[in-house]
Amino acid sequence: MEVKTSLLDNMIGVGDMVLLEPLSEDSFLGNLKKRFDHSEIYTYIGSVVISMNPYRSLPIYTPEKVEEYRNRNFYELSPHIYALADEAYRSLRDQDKDQCILITGESGAGKTEASKLVMSYVAAVCGKGHEVNKVKEQLLQSNPVLEAFGNAKTVRNDNSSRFGKYMDIEFDFKGDPLGGVISNYLLEKSRVVKQPRGERNFHVFYQLLSGASDDTLRKLKLDRDFSKYNYLSLDSAAVSGLDDAANFRTVRNAMQIVGFMEDEVQSVLELVAAVLKLGNIEFKPESRCNGTDESRVKDKNDLKEMCELLGIEQSVLERAFSYRTVEAKMEKVSTTLNVAQAYYARDALAKNLYSRLFSWLVTRINESIQAQTKARHKVMGVLDIYGFEIFEDNSFEQFIINYCNEKLQQIFIELTLREEQEEYVREGIEWTNIEYFNNAIICDLIENNQNGILAMLDEECLRPGTVTDETFLDKLNTICADHQHFESRLNKNSKFLNDHSLPHNCFRIQHYAGKVLYRVEGFVDKNNDLLYRDLSQAMYKANHSLIKQLFPEGNPAKVNLKRPLTAGFQFRASVGTLMRNLQTKNPNYIRCIKPNDKKASHIFTDSLVRHQVRYLGLMENVRVRRAGYAFRQPYEPCLERYKMLCKRTWPHWKGPAREGVEVLMADLQIPTEEISYGRSKIFIRNPRTLFFLEEKRKQCLQDLATLIQKIYRGWKCRTHFLLMKKSQIVVAAWYRRYAQQKKYRNIKSATTMVQSYTRGWQARKLLRELKHQKRCEEAVTTIAAFWHGTQARRELRRLKEEARRKHAVALIWAYWQGLKVRREYRKFFRANAGKKIYDFTIQRIVKTKDDFLVSCLPWSVTKTDHIQDQFTEEKKAVYEEKLEASEIFKDKKALYPNSVSQPFKGDYLEISKNPKYQKLNSAVDEKVLLADVVNKINRANGKGTPRIFLLTKKNFVLADQKTGQVKASIPLPDVTSVSVSTQKDGFFALKLKEGSASAVKGDFLLSSEHLIEIITKLHRIGATAADREKLKVDISDEFLVQFKQDKVCVKFIQSSPKNGNSISCKRKNNRLLEVSVPTSP
Ligand SMILES: Nc1ncnc2c1ncn2[C@@H]1O[C@H](COP(=O)(O)OP(=O)(O)O)[C@@H](O)[C@H]1O
Ligand SMILES: [Mg+2]
Repeated sequence: MEVKTSLLDNMIGVGDMVLLEPLSEDSFLGNLKKRFDHSEIYTYIGSVVISMNPYRSLPIYTPEKVEEYRNRNFYELSPHIYALADEAYRSLRDQDKDQCILITGESGAGKTEASKLVMSYVAAVCGKGHEVNKVKEQLLQSNPVLEAFGNAKTVRNDNSSRFGKYMDIEFDFKGDPLGGVISNYLLEKSRVVKQPRGERNFHVFYQLLSGASDDTLRKLKLDRDFSKYNYLSLDSAAVSGLDDAANFRTVRNAMQIVGFMEDEVQSVLELVAAVLKLGNIEFKPESRCNGTDESRVKDKNDLKEMCELLGIEQSVLERAFSYRTVEAKMEKVSTTLNVAQAYYARDALAKNLYSRLFSWLVTRINESIQAQTKARHKVMGVLDIYGFEIFEDNSFEQFIINYCNEKLQQIFIELTLREEQEEYVREGIEWTNIEYFNNAIICDLIENNQNGILAMLDEECLRPGTVTDETFLDKLNTICADHQHFESRLNKNSKFLNDHSLPHNCFRIQHYAGKVLYRVEGFVDKNNDLLYRDLSQAMYKANHSLIKQLFPEGNPAKVNLKRPLTAGFQFRASVGTLMRNLQTKNPNYIRCIKPNDKKASHIFTDSLVRHQVRYLGLMENVRVRRAGYAFRQPYEPCLERYKMLCKRTWPHWKGPAREGVEVLMADLQIPTEEISYGRSKIFIRNPRTLFFLEEKRKQCLQDLATLIQKIYRGWKCRTHFLLMKKSQIVVAAWYRRYAQQKKYRNIKSATTMVQSYTRGWQARKLLRELKHQKRCEEAVTTIAAFWHGTQARRELRRLKEEARRKHAVALIWAYWQGLKVRREYRKFFRANAGKKIYDFTIQRIVKTKDDFLVSCLPWSVTKTDHIQDQFTEEKKAVYEEKLEASEIFKDKKALYPNSVSQPFKGDYLEISKNPKYQKLNSAVDEKVLLADVVNKINRANGKGTPRIFLLTKKNFVLADQKTGQVKASIPLPDVTSVSVSTQKDGFFALKLKEGSASAVKGDFLLSSEHLIEIITKLHRIGATAADREKLKVDISDEFLVQFKQDKVCVKFIQSSPKNGNSISCKRKNNRLLEVSVPTSP
């Protein structure tokens, strides 16, 4: 939504002087100063812009500012030159009205800057495109060129325009620039030859000497040193903040953009150089025979160089500086020139050369920038003309300039009043006559065709006879004496006679802007602007094409005997044209004011500004503007601005804006005489009323602002809340999703874990079962295999045994038979053959019988001859014992193999022979089958005690080894079984029949080296006794032994040889006796 603002917003002082209350010169100045101090350099008087020169760059010309002011109404924003430029441009574009922008003010007040600002604004807002941009660029770049040639440093302004400029910018119907036309007015050409103290010649001279390349300067025969040139003022050649060299480059670049050809630029520079050279030509007097002095060129070098530059024959020019030819009717009279006249001629030539060059430049620029189409176009004229000048010493130029300003003031008053009047008529408001000062009378004093000052000056110049400035003043004195704006010392009007402030050769004009004293000296000459014909003809003869063009009157074929037009006449004519031109256009005024004389920022010199305010007629301007109504505004913006002051119009008024405004004003009880309703505008008579409205609006705005703030804050909070709510839902949804996902993942992984554990467990269980099953199957197989193995081995053993027995029986039978035979036939053989047969038989036996028998007979079969001796009953019993031992123990007890090679001696103690055992022997009444020392194992600790063991057919006896005292005598029938281990030990338990008398003390646990023999013998006794059962032999590593009441388990374990080689027996507990047998290595 577009925000409607107003000039009235945030005003410093008042933005429009029309609203000043009370209106006086002091309040006017006070307002200007206040605004100036706040860097508000622009203030309006209605539609007129007052511009104060800030003398510093302000940040108010940025592209953003251009955008701000673009397409906005004039009173919508604070005062700005852009507002005026925009208004002018838009009414040109949209309403098809030609515009002119009149910029006035004294030198240094900022006119040229203002004109540039207007042009740059228009360039920025108008159309774009390649062609359009080129045109814009050319129009803008014409400025630096004209400034270089037409501006100079003066005491008032470092870049003072020394010519008047009016530029028409032409636009097409769309508002795009098509081209332009520049008109120049009265260049201050006297500056070329002489500059006031502290001022400079035109910029171009300094720029050329500082900025041109050495090569260019050599071609132009110039020297970089300013001091070499008479026409250049030296005391202020360098100006701070002005870079001549850089500006020279800018100018050359601008000339190129504007469309100057390279040779044209060169020609222009040659002419500038020629002017400098011309200034260096000096003259000396040369006496002639008739007593008069004739001038001669002093040093011809400069003349020569100048002639070379311009292609002029040196002698022609030299002559033109010495002679003057006057043609009258058919006669030609040649007179000599004295030195003074020669200098006058030189300077006149320099001035003419330069001013004509300047005019040519303007023409040339116009050629470039002129619109290419002939189509109808709209025009915006920008007038940047020198302002009103009041110097100490005012001459012809000031007179002309002030005349121009007088005319501009006139047109200003006329147009302002006319505009005001037209507006009243347009709006249907009654016109009240306005009192104002009309300067038409002053204009008339100057430009009246019969008795105007300019006309009289021309008359004087044209009059034959002696004409001097004094005769001119006399004439003024006679003719203008009665004029109330004219004063002079010699005025016939007696009231001025005594005015001693008026010097004799001066006259004073009371301009609208103040009184100005003019010195008449030079008026006639300057008006004549005389250039001797010889000089213009010499110029025409030049080879230089440009110089030839500049002096067309030098063409001998077009000799014009008429006097050339005077400067005053020409100026008056061009001002007249300008005024007529301006009158056809819609005027826009920019009135520039200079705040101080020091070119300094922030200084506001009251008196200086007051003076300018006066002569610019600004107070008048305000009065005219306020004469009827101080303020006016179209109904729409007025209603828009104040509608909040009335309930009926707020917030919307439905109906015509005018009615709304009427309702509003009635509601506010504004007195009817204070306001008038025009057709499209409301007119407010007093600023007071306006301020009343503004004040009410301000109060109301505050309330509204609070309301808006309240609603806005509510809206903002609610929006924010809704947004947060929405966001919260989104966040929550996302979070929930995230949490659920996380939970799901957890559950999933837990499930997977439990599953995997369960599966693992099941699998392991299954595996265990399967393994068990398999093991069972394998065990069955193994058991079956073992069983079958055992069965088979048992069967094999039985079969082998059977075979062996059969064989042994056969063998023994054979032996027996052999023995019987040998016994029988021994007597037959004894003599010789007995031995042979015996040997043979033994050999046969040995060879044919199996290993078993051999192994049974290791100790005896070495010599056959013993067999015969040994095979006694005794021996046979021994064999049978061995055989029996084999049956009992072979492959069952590890001790057995050792016993095989040992002969079963039986009585190891030789008991019958040893007297030591006499007593014992006698105690045993039967034959002792075996006597040996055994270890009786102590039932309590497992330690062994040596005992003599005697075995008879009926008993076995245990006796003390030393004393031979019988400890126990057990009848063999009481022995039910013997238990031995499978190992190499000699332990054996003799188990007694339960209930028998011997069994009272329990079984015997004994240990003997001859275990095999003892058991075998015990077994044999049992086997041979018919009354007894066979003795049972248990071979097992674990058997029970009855010790008194307790049954103790004797357990055999194999110990590693590391723990010693001896067999140890230990009582482990009540029930266990452990025998550790070292494994054989
Ligand atoms: N609007 C402005 N902003 C900044 N400086 C300005 C402005 N107007 C003028 N000036 C300064 O004042 C000087 C004189 O201005 P200028 O336009 O040449 O004066 P005039 O043409 O009226 O003689 C400029 O060179 C510039 O330094
Ligand atoms: Mg200027």
